[in-house]
Amino acid sequence: MSLNQDISSAMTVRLDEVFDKLPQTQAFQTGIRRAPNRGMPLERRGIVLALKNALRYVPAHWHAQLAPEFLEELMTTGRIYGYRFRPAGKIYGRSLDEYDGNCIEGKAFQVMIDNNLDFDIALYPYELVTYGETGQVCQNWMQYRLIKRYLQIMTREQTLVVSSGHPVGLLSSGSQAPRVIITNGLMVGQFDNLGDWQRATSLGVANYGQMTAGGWMYIGPQGIVHGTYNTLLNAGRLKLNLPVEADLAGTLFITSGLGGMSGAQGKSVEIAGGVGIIAEVDASRIQTRLDQGWVSLTLEDPAEAFAAARRFQDKRQAAAIAFYGNIVDLLDYAVENQEPVELLSDQTSCHAVYDGGYCPRGLTFDERTQMLQTDRNRFRQMVDQSLKHHFDLVRILAGRGTYFFDYGNSFLKAVFDAGVTDVCQNGKNTDDGFIFPSYVEDIMGPLLFDYGYGPFRWVCLSGRKEDLLKTDRAAMECIDPQRRFQDRDNYVWIRDAEKNRLVVGTQARILYQDAEGRTRIALKFNAMVRDGQIGPVMLGRDHHDTAGTDSPFRETANIKDGSNVMADMATQCFAGNAARGMSLVALHNGGGVGIGKAINGGFGLVLDGSERVDRIIDSALRWDVMGGVARRAWARNAHSIETVMDYNKNRSGRDHITLPYIADDELITATIKDKLT
Ligand SMILES: NC(=O)c1ccc[n+]([C@@H]2O[C@H](COP(=O)([O-])OP(=O)(O)OC[C@H]3O[C@@H](n4cnc5c(N)ncnc54)[C@H](O)[C@@H]3O)[C@@H](O)[C@H]2O)c1
Repeated sequence: MSLNQDISSAMTVRLDEVFDKLPQTQAFQTGIRRAPNRGMPLERRGIVLALKNALRYVPAHWHAQLAPEFLEELMTTGRIYGYRFRPAGKIYGRSLDEYDGNCIEGKAFQVMIDNNLDFDIALYPYELVTYGETGQVCQNWMQYRLIKRYLQIMTREQTLVVSSGHPVGLLSSGSQAPRVIITNGLMVGQFDNLGDWQRATSLGVANYGQMTAGGWMYIGPQGIVHGTYNTLLNAGRLKLNLPVEADLAGTLFITSGLGGMSGAQGKSVEIAGGVGIIAEVDASRIQTRLDQGWVSLTLEDPAEAFAAARRFQDKRQAAAIAFYGNIVDLLDYAVENQEPVELLSDQTSCHAVYDGGYCPRGLTFDERTQMLQTDRNRFRQMVDQSLKHHFDLVRILAGRGTYFFDYGNSFLKAVFDAGVTDVCQNGKNTDDGFIFPSYVEDIMGPLLFDYGYGPFRWVCLSGRKEDLLKTDRAAMECIDPQRRFQDRDNYVWIRDAEKNRLVVGTQARILYQDAEGRTRIALKFNAMVRDGQIGPVMLGRDHHDTAGTDSPFRETANIKDGSNVMADMATQCFAGNAARGMSLVALHNGGGVGIGKAINGGFGLVLDGSERVDRIIDSALRWDVMGGVARRAWARNAHSIETVMDYNKNRSGRDHITLPYIADDELITATIKDKLT
């Protein structure tokens, strides 16, 4: 027997066990967005390696046929996706019962994977990209098939290990252990940069999991609507002096992006009662949001867009206007014509500016896609020029009173990388931050994350709408709207969730909650599953949360004790969640802001109604949030100190968190006086 025959007989999970013969190639449906060519950083030796790497998944008797096909994919797209192995037709998350599996978790994660690739949700479903330009479920369709197969056969005594999309295997663990452990794109420090990552992805050894894409917890744009709504509403309260009970009626918000997450902006500004103009260069993404009713109209002329906005503002009527064009052109018009703008941000994919995430002024969307393939150097130059001008316009508007905030998309960092040192507080480097705040520094951090409020979410795995409505009502009963203004906002959010028609894909819900709220709601849902009132539920959250992510330009931007460059918290959060028995734990590099700029993680917990799951909820959900509040308290953040003081009292004898003593500023000044020049 040859070595390959020995290898084949040493495995029971193989592609030729999933398929009895090599599947036929399938035509690509027109109208489905396709990922641009990512460029080919590999030389001859690298190309040889990439081909051999991709063929590792494929039984040897198919190699001769697939090698030229994979080479063609690599040369034309910069990646080997193994298109031939993708499922026929539309992918979407079906009801749990429609999946094969030996345990409920195995079926549940198949629902989640397919929901992440739902043609109505995913940005580039054929390339396994869920959102954020490059965030993938896994690298290629061979991995997808093998992961699915492992999930079908997995038992309650085993754990599936997934490294950057590669299913390492199924290994025995125990019923209290996670069923799935995922890491994505974790690179050794010296190589933790975009160039080395691009090479690694072309070689087929790294996956950019973004946040919930590679953690299989994306729930469509709804996932971000609540956070965006919170951000806009609180921006109004903090910067426009709106009373706490008011909404954004009559207020204009200008921004860009109607993609995966940015697509939430129109819906959010409407729910908050304001008027938004959202620039978007890709007509297909505007159409998606129009079809969903998440934007109300499209205009291509900046003058008409501002005139329409004024009409809505005057009537104090909420509206989301899509501007089909470049954000820079829209802002040029606003500056030249002295248009008053209250709130301003940007949500182009600046974490991947040179990979197509930011369309430079002067190029249409199609021209951008073309230039990415033909002249990446020129594309880079155009991006840099556009960003510089974009930043100048932001500065002018801010000088006239507009409140600008960086929306965690690395816009300010991209401006810095384009060569603008004026964007930095110290005029030199990013050590002391940027001249404009990020939404986390001003809003999300102090008002939400520091208390532990974050993007808790759930998916009703039965796929039944009635289940979702029952969970909405149950969650509402768990919130005391009188406790804090955040609780009142969350109460209103869940009360109106159904009316706001937020579901795209599976029956899912997002609801910002703190540690106690999440625990209370989860225990209630699990009891409802136990009583047969609803089917099983998947709990999870965005990585963009109190404890899950170390990201100095975003989630940890309001941590000012110097520890914002450390990634201990996200790593501890991941390990602690695994130790406490979450069904899935994930840890990624770069989510939201790009490779080397963040470590982020998340979890999934399947509520099956058991007492075992009650125990996991009780310890793991508190840990998942309070690890972050503890870190924020240690950084001397006032609201976190308050929260931990309450927590230590309420959980006395069970939990205890170390609190910081606060050094007196005058004492420090007096101590260093005369000693330091
Ligand atoms: N919504 C949030 O709360 C949130 C939070 C954190 C970070 N982000 C960040 O926001 C960014 C966007 O995320 P996404 O999932 O929507 O990405 P995406 O790539 O799906 O969407 C970005 C959109 O911007 C459009 N675009 C690019 N350049 C443009 C330009 N110059 N003018 C007008 N439109 C332009 C693109 O066509 C695309 O539709 C990412 O960097 C993400 O990490 C969002």
